[in-house]
Formats: sequence, C-alpha cells, structure tokens
Amino acid sequence: MIAGAHLSGAPPTRLRPPRRADGPRLHALVAHCPPLDLNSLYLYLLLTEHFPQTCLVAEDDHGVLGMVSAYLPPGRSEVLFVWQVAVHPRARGRGLALSMLRRLLRRPGLRQVRWLETTVGPGNEASRRLFARLAGTLNAPLRESALFDAALFGVDAHEAEPLLRIGPFPLSAVN
Ligand SMILES: CC(C)(COP(=O)(O)OP(=O)(O)OC[C@H]1O[C@@H](n2cnc3c(N)ncnc32)[C@H](O)[C@@H]1OP(=O)(O)O)[C@@H](O)C(=O)NCCC(=O)NCCS
Repeated sequence: MIAGAHLSGAPPTRLRPPRRADGPRLHALVAHCPPLDLNSLYLYLLLTEHFPQTCLVAEDDHGVLGMVSAYLPPGRSEVLFVWQVAVHPRARGRGLALSMLRRLLRRPGLRQVRWLETTVGPGNEASRRLFARLAGTLNAPLRESALFDAALFGVDAHEAEPLLRIGPFPLSAVN
C-alpha cells in the first residue's frame, strides 16, 4: 500500500494504483462527478487491467474518494495524458485532486515524463483552476490550444475540449 496523503482534518487517505476490483467503484465515482462523461463499466475495467501504472485511486476506510485516469500516448513517453480526474463531493476542497496528480508524477515508472496534457471544456472552472495550480507547483508554463471542436461530438450537446499542455518541468519539480 502506498503511503497516504495528509489531508488535514480528514481520515487517512491512501493513494494507490487501481486493481481489477476497482473497476465498478471508478464507474460509480464518475457517475457522481458531472460534468465528466460517464463511460462504460467495461472501459473502467480496462483501465484497471491495462493502465494501473498511469492511473491512481484515492480511498479511505469508507471507500473510494477519487481517481485519476491517464496514459502515455504511444510513441510519446515524455507525455502523461490525463483523461479524467474525479473527486467525490464529500472529499472536495481539501487538495486531493492536486495531491493525486503530483503523486502520479512521482511514480518511479514515470520519471521520464516532462509534460502533462489534458483537455478541459471552457466552462469547467474547477478543472481549469486545478491544472493552473498544478502548473504553478511545477513552475512550468501552461498553454492552451484547440483540439476537439464541439462539432466533433456530433448530435450530443458537448463543449469543445481544448488541449492544456503543462511543461516542460524538471524531475526536481515533481519531488
Ligand atoms: C475538479 C475536481 C477534481 C477538484 O477536486 P478537489 O480535490 O476539490 O481539488 P483541489 O482541492 O485539489 O483544488 C485544486 C485547485 O482547484 C481549485 N478548485 C477546486 N474546485 C474548484 C471549484 N469548484 N471552483 C473553483 N476552483 C476550484 C482549488 O481552489 C485549487 O486551486 P487553488 O489552490 O489555486 O485555490 C473536483 O471538483 C471534481 O471531481 N469535479 C467534477 C469532475 C471534474 O470536473 N473533473 C475535472 C475534469 S478532468
């Protein structure tokens, strides 16, 4: 078990890679976290099975509190692409999302990562603040560029998903 994050005034929180049994828990967590897209349960099972090295679960004795799903885009091992960050409403506002992202970047298997990328809709202020704060702690620039236009989402009403790119950051900024 990975040592827990210290969140003042809260029970101990453990941060660890996901395992297979977490698939349904991650699916249920994301269902509580709009505006995140809720994907199929099978997709969350695949994350636990194939991407535990780049995903993270936060839990306390009462259950799952948060998760980060991420992967190394093929052929770009210096980039960690963060797909979804979710913190259960009961655990928000205590720095857990920031702690999860920083803990992920500190994993021994991710020491080569110099850039973090994600997409964030224009209206997701909480997420934008989170990644701005992360860039600040890494002392790295954050740049935004177009990626997935709203039209690409077809008939579903969905905001555009521009790309946020943080980096380059040195390994020393992660530790
Ligand atoms: C976004 C989310 C992950 C933040 O989790 P959290 O653990 O409460 O975030 P933290 O406590 O680590 O806060 C990190 C920064 O974001 C800011 N922030 C967090 N929630 C915020 C909100 N609702 N509005 C504005 N800023 C917010 C914090 O103030 C902090 O910045 P600061 O240190 O400059 O003040 C959580 O609200 C969530 O799960 N939302 C629904 C899903 C989502 O939108 N996920 C992100 C898309 S990938």
